[in-house]
Amino acid sequence: MYLTKDEERMLSGEEGEGVRKCMEIVAALGEIYGAEKMVPIRSAQVSGVTYKNLGEAGIEFIEELIKNGAKARILGTLNPCEMDLEDWEDIGIDAETAGKQKRIVDIFSRLGIKPVCTCTPYFTINLPKFGEHIAWGESSAVSFANSVLGARTNREGGPSALAAAVVGRTALYGYHLDENRKPTHTVNVNVAIRESSDFGALGYHVGKTVQNGVPYFKGVKAASQDQLKSLGAAMGAWGAVALYHVEGVTPEAKRGITAAGEQLAFGEAELKTAYKELDSASDDPDLVYLGCPHCSIDEVREIAGLVNGKKLKVPLWVIAARPINQQAEKLGYKKTVEAAGGKLLSDICLVVGNIDKLGYKTLAINSAKGAFYLASYAGRGVHFGTTRQCVDAAVNGKWK
Ligand code: F3S
Repeated sequence: MYLTKDEERMLSGEEGEGVRKCMEIVAALGEIYGAEKMVPIRSAQVSGVTYKNLGEAGIEFIEELIKNGAKARILGTLNPCEMDLEDWEDIGIDAETAGKQKRIVDIFSRLGIKPVCTCTPYFTINLPKFGEHIAWGESSAVSFANSVLGARTNREGGPSALAAAVVGRTALYGYHLDENRKPTHTVNVNVAIRESSDFGALGYHVGKTVQNGVPYFKGVKAASQDQLKSLGAAMGAWGAVALYHVEGVTPEAKRGITAAGEQLAFGEAELKTAYKELDSASDDPDLVYLGCPHCSIDEVREIAGLVNGKKLKVPLWVIAARPINQQAEKLGYKKTVEAAGGKLLSDICLVVGNIDKLGYKTLAINSAKGAFYLASYAGRGVHFGTTRQCVDAAVNGKWK
């Protein structure tokens, strides 16, 4: 792989052992995937930030990098962690877990990564522009950045995104290249899909079928950013889709990428089946969990509107990135959610945390991605439905 003078300097250790190690990681990936050169990146999104994920070995690795002069040279943000970094006690997180998690976020901060813990960094300080190269981890964020924003990233792991942040570059392969951004499948959508959970159901069906392909959707009349967020998150979880296009909606489809590849159909029957398969629990929920991926301000507004003046029988957690949460506080949505008995939280993802310790057994959720991880990885009962259905379950204590 061709290296510029600067890159050679980093690899030779002239900028310190920490930078050398990071350049070694990025260069090794480039060699494995046959990259011809590296490309400067605008931002990184670092995943794997819990103690369960990093352990002492991971912590030591980052401490060592810092000691040896490594520092992020571009904007970096963090994935969700296992608690709200401020309101952790309130939601039943023990002091030992909190101490470990705070220590990890602090270490990343010392490395120069901003302690904004969210899977929707694009709603905060980390919003890539069309065509920009970035190095992001977290499948739903990757999918959103590639597909909805038209930025370019592979699905990075925690160490490779961190290394890319330190050297400010990534190897030019995969979704950074035009030839890998063309559709492999065309999905003909023959049913009206309106709710975000409908988009999640569509993503569930398509993700399972196309795996790591690049689907091109036809027949989707309109889609909001939140609905696309739900679609991409589902395809990244039930398959490994990191990029998709929607005719007339997503930026590359508007700029000339056209339908191609194997034809698939999604109609009324597939939509019904997807809801049926995703809604797998028999008990009523003991937690209603909205914000997977983390909510936009519009989603928080919608939820606040639905709970306004009500009293909840089942705990309701609404998760949004901290800057969105602060905006929601100013606009009065937080107060409304809390007056009903719900919580508006930041930083947390129940999937990466230790849900066993919190004791919840059955969750109601509007996210097909959440349904996948909470059922198969966390072994919980999951009800899947629209946002309104989930809020109704919190109000009535029953799933309908
Ligand atoms: Fe985000 Fe966790 Fe869902 S990272 S997309 S809240 S599984």
